Amino acid sequence: MKIADFNTEQPLILGIESSCDETSAAVSLGNKILANVISSQKVHETYGGVVPELASRAHQQQIVPVVNQALIEAKVQKKDLNAIAYTNGPGLMGSLLVGASFAKSMAMALGIPTIEVNHMQAHILAHFCFRDGQSDYNPPEFPFLCLTVSGGHTQIILVEGFNSMKVLGETLDDAAGEAFDKIAKILGLPYPGGPLIDKKSAHGNPKAFQFPHPKVDGLNFSFSGLKTSVLYFIQKQEAQNPTFLLTHLDDLCASVQNTIVSVLMEKLKIPSELTGIKRVAISGGVAANSALRASLLKQTEWEVYIPAMEFCTDNAGMIAVSGAIKYRNAEIGTLNASPFARFIGL
Ligand code: KG4
Ligand code: ZN
Repeated sequence: MKIADFNTEQPLILGIESSCDETSAAVSLGNKILANVISSQKVHETYGGVVPELASRAHQQQIVPVVNQALIEAKVQKKDLNAIAYTNGPGLMGSLLVGASFAKSMAMALGIPTIEVNHMQAHILAHFCFRDGQSDYNPPEFPFLCLTVSGGHTQIILVEGFNSMKVLGETLDDAAGEAFDKIAKILGLPYPGGPLIDKKSAHGNPKAFQFPHPKVDGLNFSFSGLKTSVLYFIQKQEAQNPTFLLTHLDDLCASVQNTIVSVLMEKLKIPSELTGIKRVAISGGVAANSALRASLLKQTEWEVYIPAMEFCTDNAGMIAVSGAIKYRNAEIGTLNASPFARFIGL
């Protein structure tokens, strides 16, 4: 199937996303998003990261109202749905089980199929989510390179088709979003720290402090060392000046953000040079980062693709559209499918 084959007439899909700390439900007609309701869990803020047990409970509380809200916003009756697509991994097992069980039960009650969606594939397919009247809708043609940067993963993918994706490189330890969040915690900011670092960076100098770039061969990444060097740097400065962190917070944020974005950009240039592919996309939560978006847009030799903000961080719109693509390829799920926690390929 090609992008041109997409129509916005059918199928009508309910998408459910519950892999981490967003409970989300969406309705799509083909690749047109009719509703995309996202409930972000606030319960993790003070813990500096997602607490899996609390996440599962919050999904359990939110899933029914969120699905109802999506159907109301889409002005769709349950009986008209063609299938229910849900994230079956990777993610937090308890959280995935809430979405999977709900999707299967509802599909059984309605007598319609389920469709299992790989969360990492869906982040890439977010580029094909379309909103009625969206003037900047601009999906990439195949093949393209996609840097997927989220809280759990950092990957460079060669995307040759909706169902043909190859991982060229990935992080060996922390993901880019995880680096943002862990460093934010060191800086005394609540979870999720990525958007806060982005916000504070606007008032800081990105060249104020230099942090080392990790030396990793090929197309793989490593971000855990950055966290440690920021921690040691602050400890050293605070030994001489106890208010260092408070008085340099904006500069620290801007310098950390600049380092992460530079590392991502350096790596992303390699596969483009090796393959000659100039269509370059980003996806995942960190694709919402203003410095990464700006840096990408500066690459005049590339055709750059950046999803709309609502389809960068976790959302069920991308799950519904991935479900629509699979439905049209007759890739229907099974009721005995079991979610998977770790990334097992695309
Ligand atoms: O894709 P996503 O919503 O969830 C996962 O699949 O992990 O990504 C969440 C990650 C978090 O680490 C969050 O801090 C980061 O995306 N993030 C950002 C920004 N918005 C979200 N990081 C940097 N700048 C942002 N504006
Ligand atoms: Zn995600």
